[in-house]
Amino acid sequence: MTTVRPGDPAAPPDHRREAFRLYSTTPDTGRDALWAQLRERHGPVAPVELENGVRAWLLLGYHENLAVLQNQHLFSRDTRRWREVVEGRVDLATARPALSWRPNALYADGSEHTRLRSPIVDALARVDMNATARTVRRIADSLVDSFTASGRADLIAEYASPLPVLVVNSLYGLPDSYGHMLGDLTAIVFGEDARRGEEAVGRIQQFFSDLVARKHRYPGPDLVSWMLEHPAGLKDHEVAHQAALINSASHQPTTHLIGNTMRTLLCDDRIRAAYADARLSVQDLLDHVMWTDTPFQILPARFALQDTRIGGAQVRAGDALLIGFDPAHRDPAVQCGRDVVTGVVSGSRAHLMFGAGPHACPARELARMIASIAVTTLQERLTGLRLAVEPEELRWVPSPFVRGLAALPVAFTPGEPPRPERSRPEAPEPVAEAEELDSPEGDLLGRLLSWWRGRRTQ
Ligand code: HEM
Repeated sequence: MTTVRPGDPAAPPDHRREAFRLYSTTPDTGRDALWAQLRERHGPVAPVELENGVRAWLLLGYHENLAVLQNQHLFSRDTRRWREVVEGRVDLATARPALSWRPNALYADGSEHTRLRSPIVDALARVDMNATARTVRRIADSLVDSFTASGRADLIAEYASPLPVLVVNSLYGLPDSYGHMLGDLTAIVFGEDARRGEEAVGRIQQFFSDLVARKHRYPGPDLVSWMLEHPAGLKDHEVAHQAALINSASHQPTTHLIGNTMRTLLCDDRIRAAYADARLSVQDLLDHVMWTDTPFQILPARFALQDTRIGGAQVRAGDALLIGFDPAHRDPAVQCGRDVVTGVVSGSRAHLMFGAGPHACPARELARMIASIAVTTLQERLTGLRLAVEPEELRWVPSPFVRGLAALPVAFTPGEPPRPERSRPEAPEPVAEAEELDSPEGDLLGRLLSWWRGRRTQ
């Protein structure tokens, strides 16, 4: 049973226990063995190090994870509450994106969180899901068109990574050219080059404040215009930050849900056969991947607001608790049934992949829709799709948080180059406004696009 209760003076001093170094490579025995080993040694909450000397607690138990996600009175989402920050050992300005702080809903608590989140939730609720499904298909088709003739592709760089950004960009009412710029900048932010990452963060901020200025002049049926007219009355810079959050929150999990699902289909014969003859639906396949190959294996973080005892560990006010999606999904206390033929985790959407409690993902239906159309488009368009390397040669993103492939090289029968009618999509991209504004006399956002195009041709 989950135990969360305010400080218990009789509790053992857990800080004396040996902390596992999360930043070191996963042992050869694999992640499952690692979680089992930590569970055996420490119980459902284990001490870990995020970097040399930077301590945190890793939640291994399903119920402990759920309890922390749901209890905002004891556990804050605000990184500024972290003792490492308060005592100056971690600088939020230079911390990795997952552990930084921005004035957006993700890092806010209580009534401030509600104020910042409600425009996001209400704007997402106004999205026309049928029209968006057609847009997702148009974008997926255009990405496939760009590599189909070659018979080879990296499905991460050329497909799964740009797709979510292009879709979200369309929900801002912008033409694809802006989405390609935003995709490049977002990929740099989540990449390994810290200096370029910092510059890209600045450009993205500029992108969203210029976008808000444009939407004041040209409001339309899009997320930013809807957030601007929301009764919460957010200021312009606040709308810009929430719009940036929608982009950053959607990018990595959607990319790696698509990538991990394609890896499963390409590497697991039983699952591929079940999917091919329609015994396994794409939605059940996505749930299986979210249980077994979670795009976020660990989510940072919650911060204890007072001394608390949870799962046998004595947590002090200011301690960081890492949400352990992957270990939680392997918790022996919640083992789910598996289909005897395919090995697919059956009949349960109780995985934690979309979070829980006040910060739970406000876009889970949209995310599932993007991922399912992405997977079915590849299956329909690419004949003879197969891995272009041995499965053991696939490289993972070097991160304790993300569980996703750095690249997914595939081969397939080269297709016909795109026919002209394909470039006239069912769901046209919104070009009229952009053509007017992309001229040299255009607005700041148009000029940012011109700058980016110039950089690309250098
Ligand atoms: C497979 C894809 C996705 C997964 C697995 C996912 C998962 C999550 C999770 C776990 C959280 C909670 C974070 C926390 O508690 O600290 C979250 C928050 C959020 N997600 Fe998603 N997400 C996905 C796609 C998307 C998409 C497509 C959008 C928008 C278009 C989106 C927008 C957001 C936003 C705005 C938040 C912050 C909510 C808040 O803090 O109140 N997500 N997501």
